[in-house]
Amino acid sequence: MKALVLSGGSGTRLRPLSHSLPKQLVPLANQPLLAHVLRGVRDIGITEVGMVVGAGAEQIRQALGDGSGYGVTITYLPQDAPRGLAHAVRVARQYLGDADFLLHLGDNLLPDGLGEPAVKFRRRRAGAHLLVQKVADPRPYGVVELDLAGRVVRLVEKPRHPRSDLALVGACFLTPVVHQAVEAIRPGPRGELELTDAVQWLVDQGVIVRASEYAGYWRDIADSGDVLAGNRHLLATVEPERGGVVDPFSVLGPRVRVEPGARVIRSRVDGPAIVGAGSVIDGSHLGPYTSVGRGCVIRDSELSGSVVMDEARISGVRRLVDSVVGRAATIERGDPRTGCRVVCGDHGRVEIPG
Ligand code: DAU
Repeated sequence: MKALVLSGGSGTRLRPLSHSLPKQLVPLANQPLLAHVLRGVRDIGITEVGMVVGAGAEQIRQALGDGSGYGVTITYLPQDAPRGLAHAVRVARQYLGDADFLLHLGDNLLPDGLGEPAVKFRRRRAGAHLLVQKVADPRPYGVVELDLAGRVVRLVEKPRHPRSDLALVGACFLTPVVHQAVEAIRPGPRGELELTDAVQWLVDQGVIVRASEYAGYWRDIADSGDVLAGNRHLLATVEPERGGVVDPFSVLGPRVRVEPGARVIRSRVDGPAIVGAGSVIDGSHLGPYTSVGRGCVIRDSELSGSVVMDEARISGVRRLVDSVVGRAATIERGDPRTGCRVVCGDHGRVEIPG
């Protein structure tokens, strides 16, 4: 079995971060989202990965290389524009050949892995095996209707009036029959070749399509709220590590990872938290669920629940909460008499206490 990981797309809901960083590389617990995806793929014994890439191709290549660092072999498959998930399967036609494959969206976090559904698929091998999860509001997702035997009878992409509460999770197992389906369908209302339409085509042709309810943690990393929630979830199980230097005036909680070359000086880190390699935390308080990337400097500041990316600098800032700070960004205390001065990137968002 192969895997096809979809990492094209435009990531508009994650702007401004996605202006300069493909959303699939956003760090969660200091690892790019795609590293978590590849771990899940390799853990079910798949080593051949086709990676569909778009505008962010070069950065993704630089980050993952040939995949050997993750125990897989990656073949990059360029897609000229985000023309839909089924179009991405078309792009991969030759690469996939006659193999069954795991289709995994590159922006979906599934840290509990795919072991159980992979066993179910391998045991019964339907034409397609989908994963679904009950959600309170299914409208932003593909919505799946099942019969009593657990077979898929209907799928609709982002319906205004959902007929079930089962959302399509961004990973499924497909067999080569899907290649006929992606050729047969036409673009849907949003102009894309939808995977849901391709799977519906299979159902209409009488191909058996099964679905199982995914019991693990699932998050589609679409906006900054998802980045913070995904990061928080991963940090909850972080293993403590003291790779750097912690001076005698600092206090560290039990779930704190200090990576090699980092320095914690006169500071308190409650955890769960990660201080990335080469970063300096000086005279500061890091509250729970905070990830600090590599080469950052945090001085005389207090922050919690946040993701701080590589080489950012924060100084003299009190109570920064639930924030996402981009690479090499600077946040510093200004002169209270002059008011707040910001240089905020396109589509950025700043909340200033009134
Ligand atoms: O997250 C689950 C949902 O993912 C499903 O419930 C929906 O049925 C499915 O259509 C999808 O919806 P999204 O609107 O979240 O898809 P998005 O456009 O964000 O694309 C998902 C991933 O696939 C993302 O990593 C970008 C990549 N992609 C997307 C398109 C449209 C491609 O590689 N090529 C494309 O043409």
